Amino acid sequence: CGIIGYVGGRKAAPILLNGLKRLEYRGYDSAGLVTVNKTGARRYRVVGRVQNLDKLVKGLDLSMPCGIAHTRWATHGKPTEANAHPHTDDTQQFYVAHNGIIENHEKLRTQLEAEGVHFRTETDTEVIVQLIAKFFETNLETAVEDALKHLEGTFGIAAVSSADPMKIVAARRGSPVIIGVGKDEMFVASDVSALVQYTDQVIYMEDNELAVLTPGEYQMLSFDHKPIQRETLQIDWKVEDEGLKGFPHFMLKEIYDQPETVRNACRGRMIVSEGVSVLGGLQSKMEEIKNLRKLIIVSCGTSYHAGLIGRYIFENLTDLNIEVELASEFRYRRLRLDETTAVLAISQSGETIDTLAAIREARRKGALTIGLVNVVGSTIARETDCGVYCHAGPEIGVASTKIFVSQLVILNLMALLIGRYQSVSLNEGVAVIKALQNLPDQISDILAQASQLEELAKTYQKYPNCLFIGRQMHTAVALEGALKLKEISYIHAEGYAAGEMKHGPISLIDENFPTIALLSNDASYDKMINNIQEIRARSGPVFAITYTGDAQAEKVADDIFRVPETHELLQPILSVIPLQLFAYYCARFRGTEIDKPRNLAKSVTVE
Ligand code: G6P
Repeated sequence: CGIIGYVGGRKAAPILLNGLKRLEYRGYDSAGLVTVNKTGARRYRVVGRVQNLDKLVKGLDLSMPCGIAHTRWATHGKPTEANAHPHTDDTQQFYVAHNGIIENHEKLRTQLEAEGVHFRTETDTEVIVQLIAKFFETNLETAVEDALKHLEGTFGIAAVSSADPMKIVAARRGSPVIIGVGKDEMFVASDVSALVQYTDQVIYMEDNELAVLTPGEYQMLSFDHKPIQRETLQIDWKVEDEGLKGFPHFMLKEIYDQPETVRNACRGRMIVSEGVSVLGGLQSKMEEIKNLRKLIIVSCGTSYHAGLIGRYIFENLTDLNIEVELASEFRYRRLRLDETTAVLAISQSGETIDTLAAIREARRKGALTIGLVNVVGSTIARETDCGVYCHAGPEIGVASTKIFVSQLVILNLMALLIGRYQSVSLNEGVAVIKALQNLPDQISDILAQASQLEELAKTYQKYPNCLFIGRQMHTAVALEGALKLKEISYIHAEGYAAGEMKHGPISLIDENFPTIALLSNDASYDKMINNIQEIRARSGPVFAITYTGDAQAEKVADDIFRVPETHELLQPILSVIPLQLFAYYCARFRGTEIDKPRNLAKSVTVE
C-alpha cells in the first residue's frame, strides 16, 4: 500500500493525486484522498485505480492546502469503497491512512463499541482513527501519541484533522514512512518515489518515531514525546529517471535499461589489474568478513532467485559454506549463528517485511548482517551492519527485471571481494572482471534481437501452460523465467531442475505443453540435450535458449534463441534477458496489465 500527504501553501489534492500515481505500483485495489481545513474535510474514495479517483475529483473545487491519500492493496477485507483509506472517526473530523496490520484491533474495537463508538468498516485502521478521536483534546500529535500506546502490530500512518488543520502527524512502527522537506511545505510518503518530483530533502523515519509536519517546520518525537534530532538526507533519484522514455511499459523500459544497470552496478567497484572488487559499503566490516565461514542468503520472489544463483557464485569464488533460504522460512528454523556467519539480505525495495524480519532474527543471534538493496535509505539498508547498493534507480514495473540483473552482478563483486582474500587467484579474478566489462554490450546484442522473441511469444502465448527447465545455475534462471511469465501473462508456468523431469513433470508433456529449455556451455550441456530429446519424443514443443556457438540445440528443439557467451558465473545474466522479453511479449499479446499485474504489489510490507 502507499501513503502520501501534503501540507503547505498549495492545493493539496493535485499533489496527492500525483503522488498516488507514483505509488500505484505498491497497490491498486482502491484509492482515496482527504483534504482538510478548519471548516471541515472532503474525502473521496474509489475502488480500482488512481485514475478513477482522478476522474471522480475532476472539476471539483479542491483548494484545501492540507491532506493525505492512500492506495491500497487489500490484505483484510475486500477492496470496496468503504474499506478504502483514508478512514475517519464518528465525528468525521479525524482521518488516517495506514499501512501495516493492527493485531489487537478486534479487542480495541470491542472496547470502543462498549463506549458507544460506531464503526463503519471492518478494517483494523478504523480502530486507530477512532482512538485518535477519543483522545483528542487540543492537538493532533498528543492524540496520535495516546492512540499509538494501545496498538499492537505494525503501522506507518499519516493523520490529519479539521480540528487541528494545517498539520500532518505521521508515525512509524514496522512500515516505512519518509518525510519530504520543501520550502514552506512538507510531505510525507511511504515511498521516496512519491516525493522525488517535489523535493530531494528527505528524512527516513525510524521505528517508534512520530513526526509533526506544519508548512514551515517538522518536528520528530519519540512515542513518549522526547524530541529527536534528525538531519535531512539528499536523495539522488531524478524525476526523469521515472519516465517511460517512449516505451509503452515500465517493464520494457527497465529491460532496456539493463546495459546501463550493469554499468552502474560496476562503476568504481573493480580494479582490473588486481582482479579485485572494491565495495565501500562493506569496508567497515572487512575484518569480520575476512573471517567468515558461512553465508546465509535470505530473500523473497525474484530476489530469492538471485540468491539461488548467488549460491553458485559464492561457492565458486569463495571458500564459504553457503545456504540460501526464503526469508519467510528463515525465521522459523533453529539456526546456530555466530560471528563467523553472515546473513545476506537481497531486496530491491529494502522493505520486504519477511526479509527484514530475517535480518532482525539474524542480528539477535549474533550474525553479521549484510544488505544488497536498491532503494537507498530503506529499512533493510539501515538495519544491516553493512551492505552494497544496486544504484539502479527506481524500478517501477512490479515484475522485477533490471534489479535481478543488478543483484547478480553485485553478488559476483561481493564474492570476488571475499574470494580474493581466500583461494581465488589473480587470473580468476581478472577473468570475472573482464567478463563484467563486456556484459553491457552483450546485453545490447540480445536486446537488438527482441523482435525474434516477440515472434516466438506470439506462438507460445497460446498455450495455457509452460515449463521452464535448466541445470545448475540455470535451474534458478528457469524458476525466474517461469515467475516472470506467470506474474504478468497469467499463463501457468513452472520452473524445474531438468534432472527432476523424470520424477514428475514429464507426465505433463504432450503437444499442448511447451517447455523452455535453458542450455549453457558447461558440464550439464549433454544432459540438457537428452532432456530436450525426451520431451520431443513425447511431442512436447521445445523452445531452447542457448549460447552462440551451440551446434546441437537447433537440431533437437523446435525454436531457438541464442545469447552471447560469457564467464560461466555471468551466463545467467544473459540467459534471463530473453526470458524477460518473452514474458513481456506473451503478456502483451494477452492484453494484461503488464506493469501492474492483478493481485501483486511491488513491495510486500505485510507478512
Ligand atoms: C514482490 C515483488 C517482486 C519482488 C519481491 C521481493 O513480490 O513483486 O518483484 O521480487 O516482492 O521484493 P524485494 O523488494 O525484497 O526484492
